Amino acid sequence: MKISDSIRYVGVNEHQLDLFEGIFDVPNGMAYNSYVIVDEKIAVMDSVGEGFGEEWLSKIQEATGGRKPDYLVVHHMEMDHSANIQKFLEVYPDAKIVASKMAFVMLKSLFGNAIGDITAKQIVVADGATLELGTHQLQFIAASNVHWPEVMFSYETAEKVLFSADAFGKFGALDVEDSEGWACEARRYYFGIVGKFGANVQNVFKKLEGKSIEKICSLHGPVLDADIEKYLNYYRTWSSYSVESEGIVIAYTSVYGNTKKAVEKLAEILNAKGAKKVVVVDLARDDIYECVEEAFRYGKLVLASTTYNAGVFPTMREFIELLNERNYQNRTIAFIENGAWAPAANKAMEKLLEGAKSITFASTKVSIKIAMTDANVAQLEALAAELV
Ligand code: FEO
Repeated sequence: MKISDSIRYVGVNEHQLDLFEGIFDVPNGMAYNSYVIVDEKIAVMDSVGEGFGEEWLSKIQEATGGRKPDYLVVHHMEMDHSANIQKFLEVYPDAKIVASKMAFVMLKSLFGNAIGDITAKQIVVADGATLELGTHQLQFIAASNVHWPEVMFSYETAEKVLFSADAFGKFGALDVEDSEGWACEARRYYFGIVGKFGANVQNVFKKLEGKSIEKICSLHGPVLDADIEKYLNYYRTWSSYSVESEGIVIAYTSVYGNTKKAVEKLAEILNAKGAKKVVVVDLARDDIYECVEEAFRYGKLVLASTTYNAGVFPTMREFIELLNERNYQNRTIAFIENGAWAPAANKAMEKLLEGAKSITFASTKVSIKIAMTDANVAQLEALAAELV
């Protein structure tokens, strides 16, 4: 695949993966992107995941017309991108590896003595360093913690291409039709994997100011080659923990269906009151990272939990912890609890969120004993009035 006359795609698609990074469902597979810039010098941009070395090397050979690459640029050492570095050096022993100082430490940790002494093959680059390829020039941008600390972006000046490591990546192989649009799985990817590091993403944005970007080549997902500002704006919103869309998410747990009934009633009342968007998620049955994504997308969140061991239901606790780990903030949160004899989940949920920044807790709190009563419906009405 050609990105331009000089930049070619040499990535691969993975379809046998049960969980990406050991935790994320990837029903549409995953792409491990890699690119080749062909100029007076040839640079290969990152490797691909385990098991795809032969396919990747064969694509490199085709993309270069049999010429030998001069450089392998390593933007990120996580193994979905670094697994084949040793194989690359076995085939191209004269090539140099270009990476950050910390990436070389990680490279040694990954391959140990098996990769041999690569001191003479190392080019260590720091923020602001450049690499001349001929008419193409790479400018390196340190992007610490987007998503690991060694991460670098690079900006190619002649064609204005940003090689963005994991940033702007999404779940899904490139040979599966993307019927949902980029943002859906890019948002789940962002908040699942990068969400904790919003401040780091913002720092990189400062470094990108003034650079005209015509294409973004991420390590996952499609090459972005139009409406670049739209994608940058998604990342500006997500990394600043701002509300992306007006709406209310109701995240619930329910053992025998009574809390679910209350949640459905609340959704009905909210819709009747003209709420712009109401999203209901079942924390035990829906993809938990879809639930996390929804919580960050919208401005208001209702947490409805069964009381369990005098506290919150386990799936609710896990959900709140996932939000806290990702610096959940700038939102309104409301609580609904259910408990057969001593409902206690509302207080416990509020306590779990006490460290979250800029959170407004709704003053109406709904408390149910087993099944919803008329008094509970009145509470739900009051809560809906507060939220809409
Ligand atoms: Fe795609 Fe952080 O690895």
